[in-house]
Amino acid sequence: MKLVTIVGARPQFVKAAAISREIARRTGGPEIRERLVHTGQHYDYELSAVFFEQLSIAPPAHHLGVGSGPHGAQTGEMLRKIEVCLQQEQPDLVVVHGDTNSTLAGALAAAKLHLPVAHVEAGLRSFNRAMPEELNRVLTDHLARWLFCPSDTAVTNLRAEGVVDGVHQVGDVMYDVLLLHRERAQAHRPLLGSLGVRPRGFALATVHRPENTDDPTRLRSIFETLDELAAGGLPVILPLHPRTRAALQAHGVSAGATRLIDPVSYEEMLLLLQEAHVLLTDSGGLQKEAYWSEVPCVTLRDETEWVETVEAGWNTVVGADPARIRDAVAGARRPTDRVTLYGDGHAAAAIVDVLAASAA
Ligand code: UD1
Repeated sequence: MKLVTIVGARPQFVKAAAISREIARRTGGPEIRERLVHTGQHYDYELSAVFFEQLSIAPPAHHLGVGSGPHGAQTGEMLRKIEVCLQQEQPDLVVVHGDTNSTLAGALAAAKLHLPVAHVEAGLRSFNRAMPEELNRVLTDHLARWLFCPSDTAVTNLRAEGVVDGVHQVGDVMYDVLLLHRERAQAHRPLLGSLGVRPRGFALATVHRPENTDDPTRLRSIFETLDELAAGGLPVILPLHPRTRAALQAHGVSAGATRLIDPVSYEEMLLLLQEAHVLLTDSGGLQKEAYWSEVPCVTLRDETEWVETVEAGWNTVVGADPARIRDAVAGARRPTDRVTLYGDGHAAAAIVDVLAASAA
């Protein structure tokens, strides 16, 4: 069986690593060959190549070099180039991950060529159609033959849209990867010293969603509040996404006392997370990684797809409102009970089992 996996943006390299590793580990059963296509949506070393190196992902068979651009142009260029690749590769199926423009372009190109699509991280919904990621998720789910869900909520969301066939609740592949790297992350401890922070003595922050970066009022509100926290004695470390760097400049917003650093590698991020007192973020993946690392999360969005982390008391959704952000940080605690969320760390094996069975 030959599969083509389409990736393009930072969180997809992490998810794809879990499946590639599982394919490489397998013995017996049908032979599975994987070819990786990188759209080039993320192209900076810190957002792309460092993940391939650290997560031992094989170099892509095709690098499409699409790069940045407006949504239509970026997605359209990917669609055109992925189609050519798939025609050359003639795979049995195509795997896409998550909710980026690379995900949608991959799923649509494959479906138009009548190639079956497997969507990893299916069924997630924010119910906010202003988010490009929400449009990408909904459309990809409706194009997919196999829908691999990380939670029961995701399965329920799909059922509500009439999507029932091919749905599998397998847990989250990001947990598989985190388990493998969480000890190794500790090798990066000297980073804490070089940043001048003590374990549990700082807040970790990330901001990159368009709803925050493209809205000057929200962007200013978030950065002013982070500055206040930092000036008030809780150091704030913020690895800066290039989108946000550009937005801060464009809107004339200053970071003040917040310590901006370049984007960090996967294991460095895990280390910072493990050692943080609290996480403030608008990322999807980090909300779960905080839960698995037992760090309280304050989500800088108006809603979340990862509702289970909120129900379990580990995540507070505050939007961009200064008072709500401050209160959530002041009240950040590790709840005493922990339920198991998003699987047991064997999601990739469950996914490959299903795909291999389709070839048998
Ligand atoms: C994308 C995904 C988002 C995901 C995120 C992870 C979509 C619609 N969004 O957003 O779901 O959470 O990736 O990071 O697909 N840029 C660089 N260097 C790079 C990549 C991007 O400088 O290597 C800059 C460019 O100025 C670009 C901007 O970042 O215009 C945004 O890039 P974009 O392709 O929209 O992706 P993200 O914002 O990262």
